Amino acid sequence: SKGTYPYYMLKEIDEQPNVLRRLVSEYMNEDGSFNFDPKLIEALREADKLYIVAAGTSYHAGLVGKPIIEEVAKIPVEVELASEFGYHMPLLSKKPFFIYLTQSGETADSRQVLVKTNALGYPSLTITNVEASTLSREADYTILLHAGPEIAVASTKAYTAQITIEAMLAKALAVVNNVPGAEDFDLKYQLSLAANGMQTIVDAKADLEQLAHEFFANTRNAFYIGRGIDYWASLEASLKLKEVSYIQAEGFAAGELKHGTISLIENGTPVAAIITDKETASHTRGNVQEVEARGAKTLKIVSEDLAKPGDQIVVPTLDTVLSPLVSIVPTQLLAYYATLQRGYNVDQPRNLAKSVTVE
Ligand code: M6R
Repeated sequence: SKGTYPYYMLKEIDEQPNVLRRLVSEYMNEDGSFNFDPKLIEALREADKLYIVAAGTSYHAGLVGKPIIEEVAKIPVEVELASEFGYHMPLLSKKPFFIYLTQSGETADSRQVLVKTNALGYPSLTITNVEASTLSREADYTILLHAGPEIAVASTKAYTAQITIEAMLAKALAVVNNVPGAEDFDLKYQLSLAANGMQTIVDAKADLEQLAHEFFANTRNAFYIGRGIDYWASLEASLKLKEVSYIQAEGFAAGELKHGTISLIENGTPVAAIITDKETASHTRGNVQEVEARGAKTLKIVSEDLAKPGDQIVVPTLDTVLSPLVSIVPTQLLAYYATLQRGYNVDQPRNLAKSVTVE
């Protein structure tokens, strides 16, 4: 039930710190080992490439999983849209392993790919929130997200739970493969920082309600921009905003705007920039100035270590590849409040169902 919450979406956003802590206690042991099926870890070790297949928000969680797994475990990863991949399968590596990310475990687009990779005899893992769901039953292995039922159509806690599981798999593989530097990726510590950081953000939701009003209450369109990991977070931030508030929102690679899309910027167009990567922070800030010079109203979501006076939203600093765990939370709340301010039903946006069981 919603308990004292007006909407499931808000309840589910608020649950994220606890979901993270639950995942740590489910899967991480005191001695640094993981509670994953050893046969799964062996099968993943044998692969020369991991293919993550998903749709919607789960696809966006997969995009974040790629740099985490590649950086920490040094295994190449491809991330594929289920609705494309099944019909336009690329030339696969010699020993592929398929990871299906799906909150519901029932998404038809993802399932049709699983049916094909099963027929080809490739090993598979489904990471899902729903025990005994179709994709869980039909894959070789399952890891549960333990996020509790997600009722709101807009996925929130499943996204952060999926990223957490991807990070745990990355670390588990790095440890068994003795990847040099693996011990520097202190995942338990990072996840405790992330859970505390999420809590701080959800506790300050009144500020986000105000910012939503200022930036999104009356606009027709909006942009989220970022580079690298912040670009992947921008894609999810914009999906959240558009699916519930009906603002035409685009997630865009910050450096790519000037190659065409910047012509859409008008006086007052809201542009939110996500800045958590010190390698690219100054370049993204440059892109923010470019859109400001063309009249955009800009909102900056910045990690603490990179924050400057005037940045409206500051999130705790994590290892860069994990930063979407915290940078996404204010964007979920902005989408939530903008939708209420515009007078729509945030839990049940028009034209959408919670799980999409047709291709
Ligand atoms: O259950 P799944 O994770 O497979 O669902 C995939 C998408 O349909 C889902 O993420 C959808 O995009 C959500 N409405 C996003 O909030």
